[in-house]
Amino acid sequence: MIKQQLTSKNYTPFVEEIEKYFSQSDIVLQDDRNTIKEVEFNSKAFVIKSYKVPNAINSFIYTYLKKSKAWRAYEYGLKISKFTPKVIARVEYFQPLLKQSYLVCEKFDADFNMQTPLFKQHPDKNILLKQFAQFVLELHNNNIIHHDLSPGNVLIKKNKRGYKFQIIDINRMIFKVPKVKERAQNFSKLWASDEDLTTILKTYAEVANLDSNFVSMGLAYNQRNKDRKNRKLKIKKALGLC
Ligand SMILES: Nc1ncnc2c1ncn2[C@@H]1O[C@H](COP(=O)(O)OP(=O)(O)O)[C@@H](O)[C@H]1O
Ligand SMILES: [Mg+2]
Repeated sequence: MIKQQLTSKNYTPFVEEIEKYFSQSDIVLQDDRNTIKEVEFNSKAFVIKSYKVPNAINSFIYTYLKKSKAWRAYEYGLKISKFTPKVIARVEYFQPLLKQSYLVCEKFDADFNMQTPLFKQHPDKNILLKQFAQFVLELHNNNIIHHDLSPGNVLIKKNKRGYKFQIIDINRMIFKVPKVKERAQNFSKLWASDEDLTTILKTYAEVANLDSNFVSMGLAYNQRNKDRKNRKLKIKKALGLC
């Protein structure tokens, strides 16, 4: 069985042949857990994300109990359309449990992602850190919390007016008025240095009118997350799992 949803009938010929479009493209944007490829349809660039086929237990859950990642990312994409590349479709294949699932979006022609100001050289590094803080504040002010706010999930394009930010990988989001604690916590997946994170948190606090306690709170959450991840990595290494 195939379940699909698309934002316009114009995409029907594209979505009906999604597996063909996906397999025939050799523009691979990422091939890790999930595979992301760029394809062309009607002379326009799109991105297809093929989610890793879930294990038997998750397949069962996504078939009978919970919306799949592709489904959630599609729904959330419609909800936060200003902040993410336009979603086009979701397609899921069941036999009878969920196997392949795809999300189709417009391609955002990014120049780089948040890894550049955080881990590489960039002449506008400081401006980018400050604008990123304001972008996250805008998300929060729109009651959007991206639960996977890693540097690779924030795409950036330079335009005439400055930098445009977009978030991707949006199947884990929460929609609510964030508490101060949740605002500070939201920066802990960046793996930013304390110095860079301080710039980001200070800017956020200034613009949001929060006291300087916010900076130490954010730094503490960040450290906690780094420690937890490093501990997990050590255990995995000790077990010979990586
Ligand atoms: N809509 C898009 N426009 C442009 N590039 C994209 C788009 N979606 C994904 N990408 C590229 O693919 C990469 C991985 O996408 P992502 O959804 O974060 O996959 P993963 O789950 O593997 O992290 C991104 O870092 C980006 O380079
Ligand atoms: Mg990602």
